[in-house]
Amino acid sequence: TRCTLIGAPIDSGQRRPGCLMGPAAYRVAGLAQAISDLGHAVEDRGDLALPALRPARCPNAAVHSLPETVGWTEALIDSVDDALSEGTLPIVMGGDHSLALGSVAGAAGFAARKGRPLFVLWLDAHSDFHTPLTTTSGNLHGTPVAYITGRGGFDAFPPFPAPVPADRVCLYGIRSVDPAEHAALIDHQLIPVDMRTLDEEGIVAPLRRFLARVRAAGGMLHVSLDVDFLDPAIAPAVGTTVPGGTTFREAHLVMEMLHESGLVTSLDLVELNPFLDDRGMTARLMVDLVASLMGRKVFDRPTRSK
Ligand code: ARG
Ligand code: MN
Ligand code: MN
Ligand code: MN
Repeated sequence: TRCTLIGAPIDSGQRRPGCLMGPAAYRVAGLAQAISDLGHAVEDRGDLALPALRPARCPNAAVHSLPETVGWTEALIDSVDDALSEGTLPIVMGGDHSLALGSVAGAAGFAARKGRPLFVLWLDAHSDFHTPLTTTSGNLHGTPVAYITGRGGFDAFPPFPAPVPADRVCLYGIRSVDPAEHAALIDHQLIPVDMRTLDEEGIVAPLRRFLARVRAAGGMLHVSLDVDFLDPAIAPAVGTTVPGGTTFREAHLVMEMLHESGLVTSLDLVELNPFLDDRGMTARLMVDLVASLMGRKVFDRPTRSK
């Protein structure tokens, strides 16, 4: 696989500064080397720059940093689409989760031109299903899933190319949902694979079902990995920790299954705040998880079913 690393030093989608240091932390933790050690080609395109801002307004006064977030969205749409068009796997090094407004829009535009359905796997404690009109925090990192699925309220943003139907979105590891999101998820029949489901069924079965649907549809698969998918004990470097997250072993297993599926076509690494890290442990864990997704394993298991 040829991988394109895209640095997205974005802090505008939330209020705690530090995610803009994410790309630097991934470089220090050796992300490119970990991928190339597995035999892949890697090109680091450096960090995106914020384009000139245009005024943008939103009727919800809580929303902040809207022009910046729109600007980053436009930059990411272009860079992710370019990386896919060159036949590479874009890996976006964030940056807070608002970057997925752009990365998924870029992937969706590409998929639409190719006539392929796009599926989205959202590995997160949160459902991120607010619109700019329903968010009470005003933090736009809580909105990308609504944009991706074509909900209204995103007038300041580029129109989403080919919205992704809710049944092609899999929210995985969810354990924090605001009331307005809860109502909208049910309304859109977007039922998350929440922690209750994972406790009952295990980490494997729901993912296997989703991947089988992606494969049957001949789909592309965008994976958006939020650091808070992981338990705060193993991944403290995130502003929105929620207890009861995925364990080290569960997270690696998810990544290994994704590798074996051969389905992943684009990837976000989001919400890493290196300022909150403990001697780089979270950055290192995220790099190791990417390595598992790119094929690192202890033993081959040729008979294992996908
Ligand atoms: N639902 C909360 C909000 O709207 C938290 C969102 C957290 N999102 C994230 N990408 N970490 O503020
Ligand atoms: Mn371009
Ligand atoms: Mn998130
Ligand atoms: Mn989250």
